[in-house]
Amino acid sequence: MKNPVQENRMPQDAAWSQLWLCYTPRQDADNRAYVEQVSVSGFAMTDPVIRNAWQELQRGVGGMLDVRPVLREDAAIDRGLSVRRGETPAEGYALMEKNGMLTLTASDEKGVLYGIFHILRQIAQEKPLQGMRELCQPSNPLRMLNHWDNMDGSIERGYAGASFFFRDGEILIDGRTQDYARLAASVGINGVVLNNVNVKEQATWLITERYFDRVARIAEILAGYGIRLFLSLNYAAPMELDGPDSADPLCPEVVGWWRDKMAEVFRSIPNLGGFLVKADSEGRPGPFTYGRTQADGANMLADLVKPYGGVIIWRCFVYNCKQDWRDRKTDRARAGYDNFIGMDGAYHDNVILQIKNGPMDFQIREPVSPLLGGLTRTNQMLEVQIAQEYTGQQIDLCYLIPMFKETLDFKTYCGAAQDTVADIVGGRSFGSRLCGMAAVCNTGGDANWTGHDLAAANLYGFGRLAYDTSLAAEEIAAEWARMTYGCDRKTTDTVTALLMGSRGTYEKYTSPLGIGWMVEPNTHYGPNVDGYEYSRWGTYHRADHLGLGVDRTDAGTGYVRQYHEPNASRYNNVQECPEELLLFFHHLPYTYRLRSGKTLLQHIYDSHFEGVEEVERMIRAWEGLEGRVPDISYRNVRERLERQLHNAKEWRDQVNSYFYRKSGIGDEKGREIF
Ligand code: GCU
Repeated sequence: MKNPVQENRMPQDAAWSQLWLCYTPRQDADNRAYVEQVSVSGFAMTDPVIRNAWQELQRGVGGMLDVRPVLREDAAIDRGLSVRRGETPAEGYALMEKNGMLTLTASDEKGVLYGIFHILRQIAQEKPLQGMRELCQPSNPLRMLNHWDNMDGSIERGYAGASFFFRDGEILIDGRTQDYARLAASVGINGVVLNNVNVKEQATWLITERYFDRVARIAEILAGYGIRLFLSLNYAAPMELDGPDSADPLCPEVVGWWRDKMAEVFRSIPNLGGFLVKADSEGRPGPFTYGRTQADGANMLADLVKPYGGVIIWRCFVYNCKQDWRDRKTDRARAGYDNFIGMDGAYHDNVILQIKNGPMDFQIREPVSPLLGGLTRTNQMLEVQIAQEYTGQQIDLCYLIPMFKETLDFKTYCGAAQDTVADIVGGRSFGSRLCGMAAVCNTGGDANWTGHDLAAANLYGFGRLAYDTSLAAEEIAAEWARMTYGCDRKTTDTVTALLMGSRGTYEKYTSPLGIGWMVEPNTHYGPNVDGYEYSRWGTYHRADHLGLGVDRTDAGTGYVRQYHEPNASRYNNVQECPEELLLFFHHLPYTYRLRSGKTLLQHIYDSHFEGVEEVERMIRAWEGLEGRVPDISYRNVRERLERQLHNAKEWRDQVNSYFYRKSGIGDEKGREIF
């Protein structure tokens, strides 16, 4: 049934591709008077960032309040919005309202842009501008999106269509490039890596004449929104381009080749921020190939980009991907720490080590990587993945912000006064200025950008959280819902509840208690309990007829000792170990009693049945929004939920049957297991 009052306020198909910047009509909330007249002082309207901010304001208030703001450059006004330069932290801003004047103060252009987006957020949520008193500043110096886009147009682990940056070896620049920049800037993103970390074939040539003009053009568009462009680099580029037949970081010819290359690159792409490097990982070449350290490799490049203000972001995803499943001593979880901790303090000051949130690989539940807090003398960046590789691939709903919050809130006991992961990557623990958060991005060429309409909440949420790590996941969810769907109360509440419950639901019907994997090899979607059990990837669950889990205690692989106390002892002790991570750290019998009094096996059965029931309830909740959200979105989400239900049942039945067959112990409640 349609609700006629809502209908004309909902975004229609064309506006839908604007996501949370759809700017459909909103209730005035007495906001109109603040945006009719705008004065700007201390900033040049010719500056691209300021110009874009002004255009966004016009577009936003035009759409939401039907106002055409009048600009009064350097003129005093007594009512309206006054933008002025003043003392605020970098990329921060103050918004103060008094007697009908809203003053936006910032010390730099980005602060103005973010302040304008803040005003638009307020209007979109039908919240009054009157009485505003806010001082906002970024929690993280770097807030980056990493695209895994390939130059043939495919996206590694992409679930929302083809790349909008590349097609058939060419760089695409069109309206979507600008919309992308607007969406990213609106949530405070200030760095973007354009291409996949696995740099192959044509992508190796991004640092050559062949692509300079187009890359420079993208860098310029992004710069207009306060975003610095970075590229992923092929560590073996000298060998594949016109350099020496080596990539040894200590070989003078190699260094000489890179020196000339960097001079050429930064001359041609002046706005370039630097490079992201995946070396010695999953078959990619790196310094280990030449008996050198990771620091040798990173520092060599860092020294050469330094004269241009460049930064080298070096990934810590280095592990042995040719493991023997029979070998119980080698533990992939240990690898990041073992490979990087020894050189802590040896990395030069424009190197940042980029560390995945967990020690394995973006599973639905992992402990926090012990490198975060282990390294105390090296710039660090947290890497998360909003592309839902292992978390439902944007078919299943999985709002990841609560998980990122858990990571950020984790107390590392690293010895600093402020010692959470948020403190470390925000630069508060060790005084680092080059640090922050990066997300492997979930966007693609689909009209709705993220495949699943509700997956856009992860893109939005990542940016908002990276800018302000004190925001609550629920607050962000509700904000996104209002921005996207308007302020209908039932819609906001339903969407927020769906988002907030989704991670727990996904966890229930997939792999239990932190063990991870059990996915279909290669595609990583859907269940295959033994899919990786006898493989070379180091991702085992070790289930037999008596129990399951990986022993990472002192008696096992000793991984627990990579944490500071008291975390190490807590994980080591089965009674104290957080239950959601129990099987990550311990191998336990199916009859082991959890705190709930249930056996481990019964917990597996129950949670899998519950997971499917929760998806059924999610579908009913969404159906309650028919006519309240745009049809196009209603249908998209309805279709995804249907596929999610199918997937959840497949997971439930395969996981439950697997453990029933292994253990020979049935479900206490006598439900159907196959
Ligand atoms: C995962 C993913 C790969 C990716 C890798 C990485 O293993 O499956 O596709 O290349 O992470 O982060 O480098």
